Amino acid sequence: MQRFENRVVLITGAGSGIGRATAKRMAVEGARLMLVDRNEEGLKQTAEEIAAGAEVLTRIVDVSDEAAVEQCVSETIAHFGQLDVLCNNAGIAGGDYNTVQEQSLETWQKIVSVNLYGVMLFTKYASRQMEKQGKGAIVNTASVAGIRSGAGGNAYSASKAAVINFTMTSACDLGGHNVRVNAVCPGLVETGMTQPVFDYARANNKEAKLGARCELRRYGRPEEIASAIAFLASDDASYMTGQALAVDGGNTASLNLPGMKV
Ligand SMILES: NC(=O)c1ccc[n+]([C@@H]2O[C@H](COP(=O)([O-])OP(=O)(O)OC[C@H]3O[C@@H](n4cnc5c(N)ncnc54)[C@H](O)[C@@H]3O)[C@@H](O)[C@H]2O)c1
Repeated sequence: MQRFENRVVLITGAGSGIGRATAKRMAVEGARLMLVDRNEEGLKQTAEEIAAGAEVLTRIVDVSDEAAVEQCVSETIAHFGQLDVLCNNAGIAGGDYNTVQEQSLETWQKIVSVNLYGVMLFTKYASRQMEKQGKGAIVNTASVAGIRSGAGGNAYSASKAAVINFTMTSACDLGGHNVRVNAVCPGLVETGMTQPVFDYARANNKEAKLGARCELRRYGRPEEIASAIAFLASDDASYMTGQALAVDGGNTASLNLPGMKV
């Protein structure tokens, strides 16, 4: 499949995990790529892992820095002459599991500035170009944590719920310009963000428990999220906008009561 031939795709958080898998998938399908991250080493590695022959540019950007985001989008357009797909994927867990009574505003500000403001800022600047082109697709990486509680601290969960709602409001803002906006909501996936959880489970002989309460009885792989992102970004999803697609092994489909599974 060459669904992204002659398309320019900008991916944030491309230096690791789901973003890296998405970059590799898009490259295989013909995309010309602008890969963005604040981690230079990670970006380098992603670029190296991408299939030979793909056109790849990388930029070190903090997605919460408006001036840097605006410049990155300008450079993308200056280099490629177009911008067709934006994957707002950068995100941090970085929070704690404090109850609201113990929670600090600082924790919320740190997480929201990356997970929410970063999505808003790239959408703001990228969609101006998409409007000019009369077409575009934006895919935001939210989380099951934005649908239910229990998959992250309160700051992380609220930031991801906000991304889901922002997906809807920006789909309404941009639909008249033929720009589609959708979100994926991954369940547990082994990436840089979740590595401590996986390391702990393996060190304590608890790996079988990871993802065991999902209906598919396992955790996910970055490539499985990347294929859903690629679907939403492609013309295969041409009549979808404003949707949040859970890619979570059935986790959010279930009440997930302890003791109800074998
Ligand atoms: N791994 C999971 O289980 C899981 C589940 C649900 C949602 N997600 C979401 O998936 C997305 C990708 O995360 P991942 O799991 O691949 O984790 P990851 O840590 O492997 O990748 C995240 C990338 O984002 C980059 N990043 C973080 N803050 C940034 C900033 N301010 N500016 C630019 N880049 C920044 C990091 O450097 C990193 O390369 C995130 O939005 C995350 O919340 C992950």
